[in-house]
Amino acid sequence: MQNHLVICILVLVLSTTTATFILEEKFSWKILDFLFPSRTLREYALARELFIPENNLPVGIEVWNDKLFVTVPRWRQGVPATLNYISLTHTIKSPPLIPYPSWEANELGNCESGLTTVYRIKVDNCDRLWVLDTGTFGIENTTTQLCPYALNVFDLKTNTRIRRYKLRDEDTNEDSFIANIAVDEGADCSDTFAYMSDELGYGLIVYSWAENKSWRFTHSYFRPDPLAGDFNIGGLNFQWDSEGIFGMSLTPKQTDGSRIFIFSPLASNREFAISTLILRNESRVSDSYYDFIPLNDRGPNFHVTARVMDEYGIHFFNLIDKNAVGCWNYHNPHQQGFFDVVDYDNEALIFPGFFDVVDYDNEALIFPADVKIDQYRNLWVISDRMPNFLLSSLDYGDYNFRIFSAPINVLIKSTVCDLYI
Ligand SMILES: *[C@@H]1O[C@H](CO)[C@@H](O)[C@H](O)[C@H]1NC(C)=O
Ligand SMILES: *[C@@H]1O[C@H](CO)[C@@H](O)[C@H](O)[C@H]1NC(C)=O
Ligand SMILES: *[C@@H]1O[C@H](CO)[C@@H](O)[C@H](O)[C@H]1NC(C)=O
Repeated sequence: MQNHLVICILVLVLSTTTATFILEEKFSWKILDFLFPSRTLREYALARELFIPENNLPVGIEVWNDKLFVTVPRWRQGVPATLNYISLTHTIKSPPLIPYPSWEANELGNCESGLTTVYRIKVDNCDRLWVLDTGTFGIENTTTQLCPYALNVFDLKTNTRIRRYKLRDEDTNEDSFIANIAVDEGADCSDTFAYMSDELGYGLIVYSWAENKSWRFTHSYFRPDPLAGDFNIGGLNFQWDSEGIFGMSLTPKQTDGSRIFIFSPLASNREFAISTLILRNESRVSDSYYDFIPLNDRGPNFHVTARVMDEYGIHFFNLIDKNAVGCWNYHNPHQQGFFDVVDYDNEALIFPGFFDVVDYDNEALIFPADVKIDQYRNLWVISDRMPNFLLSSLDYGDYNFRIFSAPINVLIKSTVCDLYI
């Protein structure tokens, strides 16, 4: 494992010249709308403030067959459904969201059979959709915990929920905010584990599908870097300095069938790694300090939230400070940081490294909130101007939410991620 871990990271080449837009814009919205059962019900929802269009911000995506899933957290009043999809067979530019699997299953505060707030979701190779419901309404100091955190797994072929697992009390603490999920598939569909990152409570919750139980790792590497909590995005300056472990990705299987789990705190320019052999073993919860490995620093202002790796080890991640999507090929060797010599104003000084930018756009890619890969090896990206929504306001006369995709081989062509040594 050590050998593979050493392979990590990074010197960064940020092209300052042309902004060729390789990602293709598939959908875009000025404001979100939903497909209500009838026009009358939509009018009713609007009148009763069960639907307040400007309070809806899409944050997570996932793709399965012709469904493109879109999540909308219930941060404010008037979000009619938190888990939704749009059909990829439709060619409308701004389609209304369709609640998944149904309107009933999106009922706020219905802990047993509803979903209250969903952030990031994950489809696995066994046609299952993994959905963590935070059970919360509101955000930050307005948050109320209406239901316990619960993992919901849907069978995408039948559109039915096949499992609901309530996190144990010990899996969370009073600061918990668990918004992201990664899925680790083993030898078969039953040998599957989910990893859920506790961004504000600084933990990693592991769920075993086979055992239907969970455990929680804690580590100092889950915490934010106090020097990396300042952000400049979308024309706003703000501090997200309490934000710990968020982004997670898994390498392809190693020869022994395990993977390497790579994660980064949000307020950090670093990433860390650990073998899934450790995470999958509950008895290592209190005996794994030295198994967590810090990787090299990415350099200042390279915050990452969402990340995903394909089956060949091509890693994609959002560079939220740069309105960009980056890549790194996991087979490329590790190189210590040379950031001190990088001068973006003088390209001659740019040291060729192993991180690259596949695309960027200072308008359309403001806050690329999520990245996912579909079964045809397309990368999907959603941008949503989240900081402006949370800290200021959106201009609803403008396009605010966009979903893009492009084939992976097109994206990485002529980047350093396309070659490896
Ligand atoms: C929440 O925090 C914001 C700013 O941090 C403050 O303006 C607001 O009054 C607080 N609201 C409550 C309900 O405490
Ligand atoms: C899994 O555990 C949950 C407890 O959260 C329980 O309600 C459920 O019935 C269990 N499912 C299976 C398949 O064992
Ligand atoms: C889990 O960890 C314990 C303690 O290190 C070890 O004895 C055991 O063999 C491990 N289990 C597996 C399945 O690797």
